[in-house]
Amino acid sequence: MVPSIHGTIMAEYFALAFDSTALRMSCDVEGIPIQSPRPTMSKTSAVSNPKPRLSKTVVLIGLMGAGKTSVGRRLAEMLGVEFVDADSEIEEAAGCTIADFFERFGEEEFRRGEERVIARLLKNPPCVLATGGGAYMSGDTRAVISGHGLSLWLKADLDVLYERVARRSGRPLLETDDPRSTLEDIMKVRYPVYAGADLTLQSYRGPIEKTVEQAYQTIIDYIAETDGAAQ
Ligand code: S3P
Repeated sequence: MVPSIHGTIMAEYFALAFDSTALRMSCDVEGIPIQSPRPTMSKTSAVSNPKPRLSKTVVLIGLMGAGKTSVGRRLAEMLGVEFVDADSEIEEAAGCTIADFFERFGEEEFRRGEERVIARLLKNPPCVLATGGGAYMSGDTRAVISGHGLSLWLKADLDVLYERVARRSGRPLLETDDPRSTLEDIMKVRYPVYAGADLTLQSYRGPIEKTVEQAYQTIIDYIAETDGAAQ
């Protein structure tokens, strides 16, 4: 049975801890191959153009293995803003890994903390924010993202996702007898919801530089098309 932390001192601790303002960078690279330590920038993008001034946080959403952290870190560099990883923030606030948190307190408690952390992060100055795969499934989180952020769905095929998640453990939802079919089931439920994101970008197999470049260009185009609404 999953222990409940409600009605205990722990409940107060977690509520406070999840609202902590500490920021830290994630070390998760999701096993995605990287050709060079820094993103390659084409002549038509960040090299020749000044960095856009974001007035909204770019919120990366997508399934486990989509590349949110790896792409997000490089995208933030190109946009000249901070990169923040919601899962790392949760781990920092809870003082344990996500896998440990799931084991000790269960998914429901994790989701509550995740909502609080993301709502708090979206009050900060604009940045690139990578969210865990389940975060966008919360109606409250979708509402707060649509109010304060620009959502970008990194969409990927099952084969690509599975190849990537298979390289790293620590994802409690995939600790099943058949993680590939679990991932497929999750995908079926989540993809229709992810489709509500402001922007969608296909994340392909291979080095991430191309995806980073396309993400950057997609954001720049969106800003231009919306006539400054996101800057
Ligand atoms: C989850 C995804 C994970 C993490 C947690 C739950 C999910 O993040 O938040 O294990 O529900 O899809 P990544 O998408 O960064 O792996």
